[in-house]
Amino acid sequence: MTYEVIIPAAGQGKRMQAGKNKLFLTIDEAPIFIHTLKVFEQDSNCSRIWLVINPEEKQQMQEWIANFDIQKIAGLVAGGIERQYSIYNAIKLLGNSAIVLVHDAARPFINENQIKQLTEVAKENGAAVLAVPIKDTVKKVSGDIVDETVDRSSLWAIQTPQAFRISILKEAYEQAFKDSFLGTDDASLVERLGKEVKIVLGDYDNIKLTTPEDLYFAEAIIQKKKK
Ligand code: CTP
Ligand code: MG
Repeated sequence: MTYEVIIPAAGQGKRMQAGKNKLFLTIDEAPIFIHTLKVFEQDSNCSRIWLVINPEEKQQMQEWIANFDIQKIAGLVAGGIERQYSIYNAIKLLGNSAIVLVHDAARPFINENQIKQLTEVAKENGAAVLAVPIKDTVKKVSGDIVDETVDRSSLWAIQTPQAFRISILKEAYEQAFKDSFLGTDDASLVERLGKEVKIVLGDYDNIKLTTPEDLYFAEAIIQKKKK
C-alpha cells in the first residue's frame, strides 16, 4: 500500500529550550529530523515526502538532506505559525496517492512495521492513528484541587503517524479552515466530520522529543535498537 507522507518540521522547539529548532539537535550522529526522514526514505511503500519547514532554515535543512542522500522529498513547504497551518500548506500540494500520512519530524523512532499496519487500516477505514494506552492515573483538576479521577481504561495517548484517505484529510482541513477550528492533531479535524477514526496499537518507544529529558530517553531507545 503506497502512501505519501507530510512531515511537519517547522516548529520552534520552545519546550526543548535548545535555543534553536530542536530538530537540528544531534542524536546518534544525525539531526533528529534526518532520523525521521530516513525511515520513510527506506520504506519502499512511501512514494513521496513533503517536508514542512521554516523558510529561514531551508538552506541548513537542504544541506543535511543532501549529506544523507534523502531522495524522496517532493517539496520543501513553508510552514505556518501553528502545526495545523503548516500541514494545511502541504495538503494543498498533495498528489493522487490514495493514502496520506502525517508524521511529526520530532518522532524519529517510528518503524516500517508500524507504518504498514497503520496504512492498511487507513485503507480499509479511511482514517487511523497510532496510539498506546495511558499508563498514568489521570485526574481532572481545577486550580490545584482534584475534581475527579478519570476512568483510565478508555484513555489512549495518541501518536503520529496518522493515516488518511487523501480525500478525507483534505475535506477535514478545508472544513476546519472555514470554521476557524484549531485542533491538536490531524484526526481531531476528521472526527469533526463525523467520520470514524480507528486506533492502531503503537509502540511506547515512538516518543515525541519535546522537553530536554526526552533526549535521555532517546539515547536509551537508540541503544536498545542497536542490540
Ligand atoms: N510544527 C510545524 N509547524 C508549527 C509547529 C510545529 O511544522 N507551526 C512541527 C514541529 O516541527 C514538530 C511537530 O510539528 O515536528 C510537532 O510539534 P511540537 O512537538 O510541538 O514541536 P514544536 O512546536 O517545535 O515545539 P514547541 O511546541 O515546544 O515549541
Ligand atoms: Mg508545538
